[in-house]
Amino acid sequence: MKASVIAVANNKGGVAKTTTAVNVADMLARRLIGPDGKPTGHVLLVDLDPQGNVADALGVRPQVYDDDRNPTGPCVSFLLMGAKTLRESVISLDRKGDGLPRPNLFLVPSSRRLESIAEELIVREFQSMRNSRLEYPPLDDVLSVRFAPALDIFRYIIIDCPPKLDTLKKAVYRFAERVIVPTKPDFLSVEGAVQHTEDLEDLHERKEVKARVAYIVPSMVHPRQVMDQQMMVALMKAYGRNRIAAPVPQSVVVKESFGRGGRTLMEYAPESPATQAYQHLAERVYHDR
Ligand SMILES: Nc1ncnc2c1ncn2[C@@H]1O[C@H](COP(=O)(O)OP(=O)(O)OP(=O)(O)O)[C@@H](O)[C@H]1O
Ligand SMILES: [Mg+2]
Repeated sequence: MKASVIAVANNKGGVAKTTTAVNVADMLARRLIGPDGKPTGHVLLVDLDPQGNVADALGVRPQVYDDDRNPTGPCVSFLLMGAKTLRESVISLDRKGDGLPRPNLFLVPSSRRLESIAEELIVREFQSMRNSRLEYPPLDDVLSVRFAPALDIFRYIIIDCPPKLDTLKKAVYRFAERVIVPTKPDFLSVEGAVQHTEDLEDLHERKEVKARVAYIVPSMVHPRQVMDQQMMVALMKAYGRNRIAAPVPQSVVVKESFGRGGRTLMEYAPESPATQAYQHLAERVYHDR
């Protein structure tokens, strides 16, 4: 079975994209552990944000720095440029030694290097237009081409996107089938999520991309605040019930799980309402496939 590719995106910053990507990936990986404790499938997280937060959130440090403080560890930028293979770019997220077994969860990490390659990818696109012997994939297919081998290895590929996708926007949405859009429940964020979704639907209708918005995740919700309730109603009206995922309450455990040694919500607070909301989303992702 080929991997199901899911992007977590929203062009607003700080709306819980990374939190959502990390926890849904961890929950899907757990779902793929058989009754004998052995994995029946593997999950790959892809960090497309030069901030490299996914590794931090999971408590691993893939980056090493040279004398000029430039990151030289594994980075998605090397893979996109074709300088490293997929195998060379993937790291294990297993932390069995810390009591955090993650036997089937993997990451292609990111670093500041990703910032500088956008220009390079565009230059290459021009070069290959002029010289057909150059074998660079078209910019808009760079993810589909470079990650193609991963489709046969992993059951899920979850891409954590930066707030501004810019150059890689079409590349992500041509590779992914489903998009999860987390949004805060305030007026401007909901407006942003609506715009983001319409933009993507537009590209989809023009057959320029494969991806569709599958779930909108209200995050950091205060269930008892009237304003938040009104925003939930507005989201339901805009998208219908089906696409709105269970709201994730604002909860201190989310920040703590990250701060206390990079643990996932299932590892840190399996019973918390925020964890349950993400669990509900992960189940939908699993079954809607
Ligand atoms: N349900 C929640 N309750 C409390 N804090 C949360 C919740 N979800 C996310 N946060 C916190 O909000 C902050 C932003 O979350 P996160 O990094 O996941 O957002 P992001 O959309 O990936 O941000 P960026 O746009 O910078 O990549 C983090 O400090 C995170 O711990
Ligand atoms: Mg992020």
